Amino acid sequence: MSEPLKIAGFEIFKGCLDSSEQAALVSDLRAVARAAPMRHPVTRRGKQMTVKMTSAGRVGWISDQDGYRYEQRHPDGMGWPPIPKRILELWQNITNFERQPDCCLINFYGEGARMGLHQDNDEGDFSYPVLSVSLGDDGLFRMGGPERGDKTRSIWLSSGDVTVMGGSARLAYHGVDRIRFGSSSLLPDGGRINITLRVVQD
Ligand code: SIN
Ligand code: MN
Repeated sequence: MSEPLKIAGFEIFKGCLDSSEQAALVSDLRAVARAAPMRHPVTRRGKQMTVKMTSAGRVGWISDQDGYRYEQRHPDGMGWPPIPKRILELWQNITNFERQPDCCLINFYGEGARMGLHQDNDEGDFSYPVLSVSLGDDGLFRMGGPERGDKTRSIWLSSGDVTVMGGSARLAYHGVDRIRFGSSSLLPDGGRINITLRVVQD
């Protein structure tokens, strides 16, 4: 049996959301994606990411040839929809912070999508944690340390799992190596959704 993953500041709440809570979140997120369509961002070097993204909140995270940043508008020009109430309640229940997150970044992983090792460091304030929710297919999450070359450990995240990266894990490198496409029946066409809640500016 593998040892449990224990990294200071990194918390995993396995099975935090039951199937009806997961389905309710998916329907909230579909409404967000109808108002602010998902798109495959490109990196500064012009390479298309395999993950599709959109955001809800005061600001949304974007990437294009000018780099990574938060913007008040979707690249198509519309404002970002508000963060759904259920998601704000989850943030409050898990983190105990009154301060609401500014951004709910929504990632969609279709078959073959992945996310390379990176830090969440485009925010102006790292004192708040990043809360993340996994929905749909299992994803192999890789967690490292504050330096790119630090040792990493991998863990499968499943639908309904919630993680928190705070304290000394707030700036830890992390990524998603692959998903097990079709492993969950939550999304009828398969795939994995991950949402991350971030306080961007204090
Ligand atoms: C992210 O780091 O933005 C996404 C992490 C995940 O998909 O679990
Ligand atoms: Mn990240």
